[in-house]
Amino acid sequence: MHTATLPRPAATLFAGLAAALTVLTALTALTLSLPARAQVNAGPYVPSPDSAVAEMLKMAGITPKDFVIDLGSGNGKIVLTAAKIYGASGFGVEIQDNLVKESNEAAKKEGVSERVKFITQDLFKTDISRATVLTMYLLPDTVNMLSDKLQKELRPGTRVLSHDYGLKDWQYEEYKQYDLEEKVNISGVKTTIIYLYVVPARVAGNWNVKLPAAVSKQAVTLNLTQKVQAVTGMARVGAREVAFMDMKLRGTEISFKLPVEPNGKPLAFTGTIKGGSIEGLVDTGKARTPWSATLAAK
Ligand SMILES: C[S@@+](CC[C@H](N)C(=O)[O-])C[C@H]1O[C@@H](n2cnc3c(N)ncnc32)[C@H](O)[C@@H]1O
Repeated sequence: MHTATLPRPAATLFAGLAAALTVLTALTALTLSLPARAQVNAGPYVPSPDSAVAEMLKMAGITPKDFVIDLGSGNGKIVLTAAKIYGASGFGVEIQDNLVKESNEAAKKEGVSERVKFITQDLFKTDISRATVLTMYLLPDTVNMLSDKLQKELRPGTRVLSHDYGLKDWQYEEYKQYDLEEKVNISGVKTTIIYLYVVPARVAGNWNVKLPAAVSKQAVTLNLTQKVQAVTGMARVGAREVAFMDMKLRGTEISFKLPVEPNGKPLAFTGTIKGGSIEGLVDTGKARTPWSATLAAK
């Protein structure tokens, strides 16, 4: 996984509109704390090219079990394609009424209106907790204004796909950059970027570890801090502070090593986070044995 970078801006119609709307977005964002919050325009209507939609859905690995939400759904093409080609369900939210109407009519015409719908609604006020896949093609500032909402409302493991603009501080799972002729009219350059992220579980806090006596007779605790997928901290083994090696968090799956070395090798932990508990296996180098942890305090 790597930290995302933003593409260079283009001096074009979309970029001009984008710049103006970025200022508008920033100005409107200043009003976020006021009681009657104005609606933030998160970007002009610019449909993703068909091949970018296909790439996003392919990278997401959509199945009929998925529930896809597109924030700023335009003519509905992302959710409609997810339903038609992959059998998924979902909805799109959009502030332009005419586009919502067009999308719902297309859903009826294409025989997927039982599974997808489009709503005239502000994407910042939309409950996104049902999503298993969330897509967006919005201005860079808007994408980042959504960072906290995505972490709070989406379940761990949800795939987030962003067209062209990445989420600051998030580590992408996959990144694709390629040239698309159709993008010249949109952004002045052929460059198309798709970011795939996986929402991480929350692991920050102090964890009390339960290990078989054969692995450690000493009390083990984990003190974890977290910035999106990046997890740091220290473990305490008895009275000793031990640094983690190879710490990784992907959705609900965590893995790390502790250089306690009873058999000359660091203990290698893997586990699944479920709210305030972790359950998994620890590899001592000689055997794999269960371990668990419970969250003591945040
Ligand atoms: C660049 S288009 C993307 C359309 C579509 N998702 C796609 O990729 O083809 C962004 C869309 O977001 C909509 N939008 C902007 N601000 C919004 C808001 N606050 N709530 C809902 N939709 C919004 C715009 O009207 C526009 O249709």
